[in-house]
Amino acid sequence: MMDQELAGKVAIVTGAGSGIGEATALLLARRGAKVVVADRDDSAAERVAKAIGEDAMAYAVDVSFLSSCGEMVRHTLGRFGRLDIAVNNAGIGGPQALTGDYPIDGWAQVIGVNLTGVFYCLRAEIQAMLATGGGVIVNMASILGSVGFPQAVAYVAAKHGVVGMTRTAAIEYARQGVRVNSIGPGFIDTPLLADADQEVISGVSALHPVGRMGRAEEVAELVAFLVSDRASNITGSYLVTGGGYTAQ
Ligand code: NAI
Repeated sequence: MMDQELAGKVAIVTGAGSGIGEATALLLARRGAKVVVADRDDSAAERVAKAIGEDAMAYAVDVSFLSSCGEMVRHTLGRFGRLDIAVNNAGIGGPQALTGDYPIDGWAQVIGVNLTGVFYCLRAEIQAMLATGGGVIVNMASILGSVGFPQAVAYVAAKHGVVGMTRTAAIEYARQGVRVNSIGPGFIDTPLLADADQEVISGVSALHPVGRMGRAEEVAELVAFLVSDRASNITGSYLVTGGGYTAQ
């Protein structure tokens, strides 16, 4: 039954050229959606769109620019005529440093992509969805949207912000058929962590009660559920898929 449950739906996935976004774009397409594979890295977006086939369109976006997000939504409407699903997933890790030493340019970059970028996309997507009677949005937060983590003040602040932004948009548009939720993945084995030192990676796996990092496909499953009609009464929620991390 889940097979083609998103048939006829049009989805945007940002940061879809890698990791969680890539797994999500592939899964939404498998469930029948037409997918705009949006990423700052246009060759990565092309690669994923090609893997999906003719129901996908690669799009080069930098979510930290307002005009780029607006163009992405306009382009989607131009190509596919509507927008039903948006997954605001593009994000960066940023520098690792104690708060007292945290690089100011790193702060601006992380907030610009992970917080302001989600707002810019959300804003444009809501406008498009209201015009066609509703839609569903998933914002990619993190377990670090609800707990702290050393040497990641900008990331943690941005992800907490995404959770609050999600709740606010959800209550504003609940009567107009737009559902908005956020997801809190635990540490996931993706290229995002490529720059982290090995010590951090192995330490991080042990922090999860399940004893391992998560997989991008496990996060994509939760996204696919949330954007489907099976989740029709879920809005304003923050759902964690973190191997028990935040249960401790
Ligand atoms: P990734 O690094 O594998 O993929 C992120 C993608 O976003 C890349 O293709 C990159 O080119 C794109 N991107 C970066 N900045 C962009 C911008 N300004 N505009 C457009 N695209 C941009 O990362 P991953 O792990 O798949 O992360 C995806 C999301 O999941 C991020 O928001 C991240 O914070 C979040 N997340 C990741 C976790 C992890 O442990 N990997 C844990 C919890 C949340």
